[in-house]
Amino acid sequence: MSNNIQSVRGMNDWLPDAAETWQAFEDVVRAWLRRYGYRELRTPILEATPLFKRAIGEVTDIVEKEMYTFVDELNGESLTLRPEGTASAVRAVIQHNLLYDGGKRLWYTGPMFRHERPQKGRYRQFHQVGVEALGFGGPDVDAELIVMCADLWRELGIAPTLQLNTLGDSEARARHRAKLIAYFEQHQDLLDEDGKRRLHSNPLRILDSKNPAMAEINAAAPQLIDEIDAEARAHFDGVQKLLTASGIAFEINPRLVRGLDYYNRTVFEWVTDQLGAQGTVCAGGRYDGLIEQLGGKPNPAAGFAMGVERLLALVEAAGRPVATAVPDAYIVHAGEAAAAFAWQAAAAIRAAGLAVVMHAGGGSFKSQMKKADASRARVALIVGDDEVAAGQMSLKPLRADAPVGTGETQCRVSVTQAISILKQASA
Ligand code: HAM
Repeated sequence: MSNNIQSVRGMNDWLPDAAETWQAFEDVVRAWLRRYGYRELRTPILEATPLFKRAIGEVTDIVEKEMYTFVDELNGESLTLRPEGTASAVRAVIQHNLLYDGGKRLWYTGPMFRHERPQKGRYRQFHQVGVEALGFGGPDVDAELIVMCADLWRELGIAPTLQLNTLGDSEARARHRAKLIAYFEQHQDLLDEDGKRRLHSNPLRILDSKNPAMAEINAAAPQLIDEIDAEARAHFDGVQKLLTASGIAFEINPRLVRGLDYYNRTVFEWVTDQLGAQGTVCAGGRYDGLIEQLGGKPNPAAGFAMGVERLLALVEAAGRPVATAVPDAYIVHAGEAAAAFAWQAAAAIRAAGLAVVMHAGGGSFKSQMKKADASRARVALIVGDDEVAAGQMSLKPLRADAPVGTGETQCRVSVTQAISILKQASA
């Protein structure tokens, strides 16, 4: 074991190849969100701890076991690294009165923190792209959120499947809760430790248990769907009709309860069997009570968040090429006059919007050309004494996708010519 300091367990570095894949994904995501009229919201990574306790629920895995919470020693305030983004989005919407003139469509992205047991697809720092439609109550918005996901999956070349459920409204959940408590009380000896603890505080969470030993008792438990009232049923029917009309396949999963307390009515998860145990790539639903619960004027809302790490793993499993950036040119130079010329040329080429890597650290032409090859640049632009004297550079194609018309061999060009050749190639 080395003594070198390593990254914190469950928190990953993104090396340049992976970071560039992520950037390409983000470009797709930003354009996709713009097409649907969603606007970005940026909130702090740290929030006051009570925000998450009130929003996510005191008796949930996240709040009970997974939050990075600490006391700010300077003022005694309890702070938490955000485990998710919905609570912060709602807090910001209330704080800035964003709904004063009607509903808002918002999105956010960034790191989230949960102290879970790390494994493939499950990290302690992970990233979400979250989408929230606040102030809209109809089933059309639930369907819009789901349809837009399907649209993104198509663009990314992946095909997770959709699971759908309704949690009804608070009265239905209260009736269901009473029946669940009665049922689990009858089978107390079969409950695991978490189950016993949650029996009276949050029996719905027992259904959410990941413990295989609980599967049988959970399978026979009273179902929420039997308690759902007519209005919530009509809402759910509306969502299903719109999805069917949009050609989106779904499976109704009555066991889908989600791990956070704020949901009501529609909940959904996009799942895949290609990533092992951590197969949920995107999840969300309606949370009509949360804005009021956090002190805002009552307003309905719905949204979802996708896990960036899991989605990128799925994109990779689908065999999509990894998008990495390559420079348009690598400038090789030797001698003081050549360096000065190369600096000016690089500035002019960059000003034209092209990507140029300037060789640094000296060395022979041969060793510089090796670096140029390794940079994966399309061409090398070479500047020596001869070139400086002629006010030109030698352009040498390095790859199969080097600019057309330059041929296999080296040719002499002015900086202006180099720019127009490189521009044609990168267009
Ligand atoms: P969530 O189901 O807790 O929902 O997380 C959403 C997604 O984040 C998951 O489906 C998964 O892809 C990813 N994820 C969660 N935990 C981890 C982890 N430890 N490692 C890697 N990926 C993870 C929410 O967070 C809600 N705020 C979603 C929402 C938005 N509902 C309404 N609006």
